[in-house]
Amino acid sequence: MLFKKRNKLPEILPDHIAIIMDGNGRWAKKRGLPRTAGHSAGAKTFQNIARYCNKIGIKYLTVYAFSTENWKRPKDEVDAIMKLLHDYLVDSVNFKDENIKVKFLGDLTRLSDELNVLIADAENNSKDATGLNLNIALNYGGRDEIVNAVKKLAASGADLTALTEQELSDNLYTSGMPDPDLIIRPSGEYRLSNYLIWQSAYAEYWFTDTLWPDFSEKDINEAVISFASRDRRYGGTK
Ligand code: FPP
Repeated sequence: MLFKKRNKLPEILPDHIAIIMDGNGRWAKKRGLPRTAGHSAGAKTFQNIARYCNKIGIKYLTVYAFSTENWKRPKDEVDAIMKLLHDYLVDSVNFKDENIKVKFLGDLTRLSDELNVLIADAENNSKDATGLNLNIALNYGGRDEIVNAVKKLAASGADLTALTEQELSDNLYTSGMPDPDLIIRPSGEYRLSNYLIWQSAYAEYWFTDTLWPDFSEKDINEAVISFASRDRRYGGTK
């Protein structure tokens, strides 16, 4: 395998990495801190990893920030995650300098008006960026996304008896984006948890026991090196 000399990265990088940012609660518990401290640390890791993916030339990074099921958590924890997103968005003037294009995936109607305005501003302010496409899945559920897409198609008068895979894909939140090549889940869990279930049909997976707040550039390097050694056949032969 060919490696770029400077940072030992393989020549073939995944176009699209998707990450389930898991383990914030356990990270905090280990330190005798409230779960919300784990999410704060996780939000910092998110920013570092997004910057690093941008730096090494990854085209798409999609992170799972809040699922349609996460509303079941205690209110103070939900509020703390929304506050972290709020603060990140307020800081989003920095997106321009970083050349990162941000987009939110999910049913945003359940979020506050204030958050919706900040999201629209952040997406708009970064729309011309040519670096990393950074997708933040928020109030996102894979099944919800598919049901939504079918409802949209039905409402538009499309003939659902003639529905194609492409048409369905075109109506998902990820419309126009490549499917994730590599899905990373830290914290020793081996589940997809309703994440990008349509788009992950041919994804490769990489797992680590590291908890998300401790996840680093080194983990991304290991994941992409592992990815480069995989033999992807998409159901065919070699
Ligand atoms: C899963 O870990 C993590 C979440 C449900 C929230 C992730 C949110 C962030 C990292 C902050 C998002 C902020 C921005 C700016 C994108 P867990 O709480 O389930 O951990 P556990 O399994 O150890 O309890």
